[in-house]
Amino acid sequence: MFSKDFIWGVSTAAFQIEGAAYEDGKGPSVWDTYCKVPGKIKNGDTGDVACDHYHRYKEDVALMKELGVKNYRFSVSWPRIIPNGTGEVNPKGIEFYSNLVDELLKAGITPYVTLFHWDTPQAVEDRGGWMNPEVSDWFANYTAVVADALGDRVKNFITFNEPQCFIGAGYCGVAMAPEKRQATQFIVKAAHNVLLSHGKAVKVLREKVKDVKVGYAPCGNYYFPADENSESDIEAARKLTFSMEKSLTDFGWSISWWSDPVCLGRYPDEYIDFFEKFLPENWQKDMETIYQPLDFYGQNLYQGTAVTTDENGEPICLRHQTGYPHTSFDWPVTPKAIKWAAIYLQQRYKKPIIFTENGMANADVVSLDGKVHDPARIDFLHRYLKCLSEANDMGADVIGYFQWSFMDNMEWASGYNQRFGLVFVDYQTLERIPKDSAYWYKQVMETNGENI
Ligand code: GCO
Repeated sequence: MFSKDFIWGVSTAAFQIEGAAYEDGKGPSVWDTYCKVPGKIKNGDTGDVACDHYHRYKEDVALMKELGVKNYRFSVSWPRIIPNGTGEVNPKGIEFYSNLVDELLKAGITPYVTLFHWDTPQAVEDRGGWMNPEVSDWFANYTAVVADALGDRVKNFITFNEPQCFIGAGYCGVAMAPEKRQATQFIVKAAHNVLLSHGKAVKVLREKVKDVKVGYAPCGNYYFPADENSESDIEAARKLTFSMEKSLTDFGWSISWWSDPVCLGRYPDEYIDFFEKFLPENWQKDMETIYQPLDFYGQNLYQGTAVTTDENGEPICLRHQTGYPHTSFDWPVTPKAIKWAAIYLQQRYKKPIIFTENGMANADVVSLDGKVHDPARIDFLHRYLKCLSEANDMGADVIGYFQWSFMDNMEWASGYNQRFGLVFVDYQTLERIPKDSAYWYKQVMETNGENI
């Protein structure tokens, strides 16, 4: 079931679509720097041009309108607004986003602005980035600049996109800028600073933007019951969904670590036992700032793991079973993950939920008839949306869904090979070609999911 005012939309991110990486006063981001390191990005791709959305935004908004888009989630590039992260504001950066917002409103499309989608200003990273205890004030200042520039017309904001990735992978692991590979003691402090930045940003938005609605967009590891009628499977999957990954390389993917402080005002007990010794002094005082009321809880979800239990009730994860259905990214197709995530998240955080990203990578090509036929994506979206509807029938409160992504774009270290868009982008000519799924999703949005 989808409520009559269900929020249907599409998502993108600045670094992945804008291009103009060094134009009109924009400062470099950690991803611009990372693209220059040989071997880091597939095919040596960069975000220098991407989809050239910076110059083609009017065409793209017109295409969104033609395809029935009513809500558009995009991110603002911090280094395009404040090239050095602090100090001087770039008027050309403000102008771009102000013009984009005007174009969207003229087209009857409601903007949802993500303040941070991984493109940390390089100048901030050079000063310690998320490990610098001053970073939360720098981020609050950036938020104030965006709120002053856009807050008269933009009423929906998301603070952070997937801290699990830009800290959990970017500071812990590999294949994510800035690939810092820090020791746990530094990761824990960096994570605390991100959470503090989130809280300070929410406060700034509430002070500066009349009638603002604020959310958050983490991701995480998702689990669902192999047998939906088995209480033990349901409880085992719930437990795993909110557990702290024990391995120091995987703990960054935890949902509860990143969402309990924001939604409940406290770190999960498992985390405190494990990491309290690394938290900054007086961290408890910060919890009050971190724990700000949110209007919706965003969640990015693509896949999950089925869970059953052994004779002792211990969880058994069923992943990558022989012949499992998967996308071109080799991500399993697991629609039940979105259903049970909605149910578990609702019960734990008791907030309206917006799935801020969901979609699939597909080896899309332009067929001989000049069209892009993507039945696999239509089937994927249909299955996930059917499960999302079932979650609401079971008492979840999912109020919105943003498909990832409006158009093919730079899939981070995978470059341009992984195509997630409803709209195909020819990277030689930058021509946009709506895929079959774009017209199917148009019908979904126009009928409020009647065709699901
Ligand atoms: C993420 C990011 C997006 C990705 C998309 C596919 O969830 O990783 O928010 O920028 O491009 O999810 O990986």
